[in-house]
Amino acid sequence: DWTNESVIDEQVELIRARVGNKKVICGLSGGVDSSVAAALVHKAIGDQLTCVFVDHGLLRQDEREQVEKDYVDSIGVRLVTVDAREQFLGELAGVTDPEEKRKIIGREFIRTFESAAADLVLQAQEGDGEEIAFLVQGTLYPDVVESGGGSGTANIKSHHNVGGLPDDIQFQLIEPLRALFKDEVRAIGRELGVPEVIVSRQPFPGPGLGIRIIGEVTEERLTILRKADAIAREELTKAGLDGEIWQCPVVLLADVRSVGVQGDGRTYGHPVVLRPVSSEDAMTADWTRIPYDVLSVISNRITNEVDDINRVVLDVTSKPPGTIEWE
Ligand code: XMP
Repeated sequence: DWTNESVIDEQVELIRARVGNKKVICGLSGGVDSSVAAALVHKAIGDQLTCVFVDHGLLRQDEREQVEKDYVDSIGVRLVTVDAREQFLGELAGVTDPEEKRKIIGREFIRTFESAAADLVLQAQEGDGEEIAFLVQGTLYPDVVESGGGSGTANIKSHHNVGGLPDDIQFQLIEPLRALFKDEVRAIGRELGVPEVIVSRQPFPGPGLGIRIIGEVTEERLTILRKADAIAREELTKAGLDGEIWQCPVVLLADVRSVGVQGDGRTYGHPVVLRPVSSEDAMTADWTRIPYDVLSVISNRITNEVDDINRVVLDVTSKPPGTIEWE
């Protein structure tokens, strides 16, 4: 496809011209956006790029391993993994306001990068002396618009890769996907040879499971949500619905309890919400009409296999008025 090739060629030239001999750091999340952005920058400047993967503790099941194996092994990008789980959970302790959570996660994310970059800068000085001057971000067009950076749209949510950045950021940003929609990014990823398992991955927000726990984020709640989320994803994939569904957030209503009966006893557990949506670009969405049998399997498995979950509910709200995520 000449259009994808020309977008790639143009970006490669722009990136080379801007970066020169300097070094670049990229946050790899395992999602489509950052993976394609990193692959594009890697094509332009090769080993001048170092990817940093922050394990903020808000990841889905097996996600860290998938980043290190599926992506890094196949693309050959240099990777530094930072285990920041305790730091993020500490900063999020006691916080329930969605915007506050997003700002904290965005801020800590950048700080973690800066600290990782500082280490890499020292190493670089001892090596060839070139400083790390740029940060790659997989920002897409819808992120820009919804954060008020586009055509004057009001700020709906501060996306952590656009609006939540602190003022004292020390890197210049490289955002090679800033003019693109998701489907265009996927096409470019395929053209660049990013593995299909990553190119076709459904979107997952930067703040991760932190904005899918309604209430305070704790390790215990993350463990519960991770299990429920993994079951829902497994069953939706098994049912062949990945192509039809844009994404299906699973949301833990951590401060809500309802009465249930399981085995011989009364339970007083939490509900999870299934939020399957169909969309072209995440700007608008409709709830996906998942077959009842599939919903039934997901509900049975989650309530049987995940302690503390005794109810599964379905979100049947389109966007607008509901956003895709609950926070
Ligand atoms: P909303 O909830 O605004 O979500 O309808 C639209 C799309 O964006 C994803 N999303 C995010 N992605 N950082 C991201 O990289 C974020 O802070 C963020 N918040 C929402 C969401 O999953 C959906 O695909």
